[in-house]
Amino acid sequence: MKEDMHEGHGWSALLKTVAEELREERERLESQVNWRVLAEAEREIAPELATEARRRLRERVAQRKKEAEAVAPVEEEYHQRFSLLFRVQHIALFVGCIVLIVTGLPLRYAEMHWAEAFFARMGGVPVTSALHRVAAAVLIAVGVFHMGYIILLAEGRREFRALLPGKKDFGDLFHNLLHFVGLMPRGPRFDRFSYVEKFDYWAVYWGMVIMIGSGILLWFPEIGMRYFPKYALDIAQVVHSDEALLAATAIVVWHFYNVHFNPECFPIDWAWLTGRISKKRMRKHHPLEYERHFGPAAEGGAGEEVSS
Ligand code: HEM
Repeated sequence: MKEDMHEGHGWSALLKTVAEELREERERLESQVNWRVLAEAEREIAPELATEARRRLRERVAQRKKEAEAVAPVEEEYHQRFSLLFRVQHIALFVGCIVLIVTGLPLRYAEMHWAEAFFARMGGVPVTSALHRVAAAVLIAVGVFHMGYIILLAEGRREFRALLPGKKDFGDLFHNLLHFVGLMPRGPRFDRFSYVEKFDYWAVYWGMVIMIGSGILLWFPEIGMRYFPKYALDIAQVVHSDEALLAATAIVVWHFYNVHFNPECFPIDWAWLTGRISKKRMRKHHPLEYERHFGPAAEGGAGEEVSS
């Protein structure tokens, strides 16, 4: 450096070098200081950042939950409408009836093409007849059991009393007809069973007496002939055959509409299996019974819109 000074251009070169060295030193120091400060800052801020992130996350989850709850339907409340005994009888009844109809109709229309195809698949007329008799035994068992149920059990007696037709049912029918043609703003307010359900029950009652009575005569003609003239058996044959058609049509048109095809329960009203009815539906279809169990209905009665 001394030599540079003596040479004359030394001062500016020296200054340049010193400035260069200082710049480098500053940069070095600056970069060191920055990293340290940054690392320290990070260390200080990190827990706060994490806490803040957790707080925001919790807030967002709570918000989403709130939104989901607002959108999700309120859980439906149910009332146990039918006991297990009630449902078991109904299931045995409809299984028996379906087999009786499916095996009985081909026997009635034995000369038809479709009946022949049916027999061919089932293993012939004897198998079909045997199945018909097995299902008939099930139906008789249900009938006998039901008699015991409505005579011996308090529950059965209660249900039977609720199913007895009364003056109100005729009034309700008339009221409903007026409602259907727009002359009454609201439909009638039903109790545990409407006149429609009572009709269903008594149609089966009546149908079973006819079908079992005539069926037994067809099943055991020799015994029947001991007590009745031949024409009684002929009548039994006609009655059994025609009532079968009536019963099958009534079930498919009337009963299936009420419990399957009616838009309010389509595709099926599961009460036959669970025994439950939603309180909303109960309030609409059985408001008098609803009020007995749960107090005055806040809204509704027949005519209120219901979707479950
Ligand atoms: C929902 C109930 C029932 C239906 C829909 C039904 C239907 C029928 C039909 C359509 C026939 C053919 C009649 C004909 O040849 O014209 C038949 C025959 C017969 N049914 Fe029934 N039935 C029912 C219940 C019963 C019961 C409860 C019994 C017995 C107690 C019974 C015993 C018989 C017998 C023995 C025959 C004659 C079968 C044969 O020819 O092999 N049925 N049934």
